[in-house]
Amino acid sequence: MTANSDQTFFRAFTIVLGVLFLITIVAIFGARMITNWNANDGMRPEQLTRVKSRTEPVYAVNTDPNATSLAAAGGDSGGEPMSGSEVYNNVCSACHASGVAGAPKTSDTAEWKKRLSEQGKDTLYKRAINGYKGMPAKGGNPDLSEEEMHKAVDHILGESGAA
Ligand code: HEC
Repeated sequence: MTANSDQTFFRAFTIVLGVLFLITIVAIFGARMITNWNANDGMRPEQLTRVKSRTEPVYAVNTDPNATSLAAAGGDSGGEPMSGSEVYNNVCSACHASGVAGAPKTSDTAEWKKRLSEQGKDTLYKRAINGYKGMPAKGGNPDLSEEEMHKAVDHILGESGAA
C-alpha cells in the first residue's frame, strides 16, 4: 500500500516536472522568437533620440573664447541699459498687461491718470523702484537700474495715454 502510493506520487510528480520543463522551454523559445523577430539588437532611431534628449546633461561647459568677453561686456546686467519698452515687455507686462494681482492695467487710461495726478510722477517712480503693496520692488528684477525703471514707468504712462 505504501509502495503503491509512493509510485502514484512519483508518477504524478514526474508528470508535473515534465510539464513545467516543457513550459520553460516554450517560454524561452517564445521570448527568443519575439525579440529576434526584427533581428535588431539596437534601438530604433526614434527611441535613440528620445533617450538622448532625456539623458542630456543639464549644463555644458562653454568653450567659446568670445563667451567670457561677452559676459564681461554686460550680458543682461550692467551693460547697455534696456529701453523703456524692453523693460516693460520683459518684466512689467507680466502683471500690468492683464492686471495680475490687482496691478493697474497699462490700457486703463483713467486709472493711470488718477495715479499720476494724485501722487505725481516721482511717487510713481519711487513706488515702482521700492515696491508698494502688490507691486514688487523693481517689478521683482533687482538688476534693473533706476534709469531703466524711470523709462519703464514713462513707457507705461505713455502707453496708457495718461502722459
Ligand atoms: C508681480 C506683478 C507686478 C510686476 C511684475 C510689476 N508690477 Fe507694477 N504694480 C503691481 C501691482 C499689484 C500694483 C498696484 C499696487 C497698488 O497700488 O496697490 C502696481 C503698481 C505699479 C505702479 C503704480 C504705483 C503707484 O504709485 O500707484 C507703477 C508705476 C508700476 N506698478 C510700475 C511697474 C513697472 C515699471 C514694472 C516693471 C519694471 C512693474 N510695475 C512690474 C504689480 C506688478
